[in-house]
Amino acid sequence: MSDDIRVLGICGSLRKGSLNGAVLRAAQELAPAGMTIDSYDISAIPLYNGDVETAGLPAPVVDFRTRIATADALLVVSPEYNFSIPGVLKNAIDWASRPPQPPFNGKPTAIMGASPGMLGTGRAQYHLRQVLNGLNCLLVNRPEVFIGSATGKFDANLALTDGPAREVIAALLKALQDCTLRLRR
Ligand code: FNR
Repeated sequence: MSDDIRVLGICGSLRKGSLNGAVLRAAQELAPAGMTIDSYDISAIPLYNGDVETAGLPAPVVDFRTRIATADALLVVSPEYNFSIPGVLKNAIDWASRPPQPPFNGKPTAIMGASPGMLGTGRAQYHLRQVLNGLNCLLVNRPEVFIGSATGKFDANLALTDGPAREVIAALLKALQDCTLRLRR
């Protein structure tokens, strides 16, 4: 089997000028040889409603679940809202968590985030880690990628210019690749 892996990148911000969207684009560029990161847009996923689920999963939910299931690994890049996970991201995770065969089960997963504040989404990441652990994702624990004071770390085109941030992103992606390939073998 080849050592190439496909990672599904999920951003917790829907806005065009998102710093976290820009971090996901930087990750696509910094991915090690053999890793491709696809960016998934969660904006079409409706609000979770158990009645809607019982009537039949909406097409965007089926698509999201399929993309998670068929990815070798996940990369979640998210802002922090009120010290926690943005509602849009939690909502998408909730839809994908439902039986049968929740696609998160056993999936190698890395998380990162950027914030204009000093803590760089650290509080949200610990909540996200707890949620994804509950879904039996295999979280890569080190290094942690908290991009604080992020506004000054991008150029006018939202390219990530900060050297240490680029280095730690590359290191986490390498750790995600190692974890995914270890499982495959
Ligand atoms: C924020 N922001 C924020 N930042 C932070 O570091 N800790 C927080 O608890 C919050 N809370 C929060 C709540 C809500 C509702 C919003 C809209 C924003 C600021 C946030 O980090 C900033 O807007 C980022 O730029 C959002 O990420 P994107 O959209 O640039 O990826």
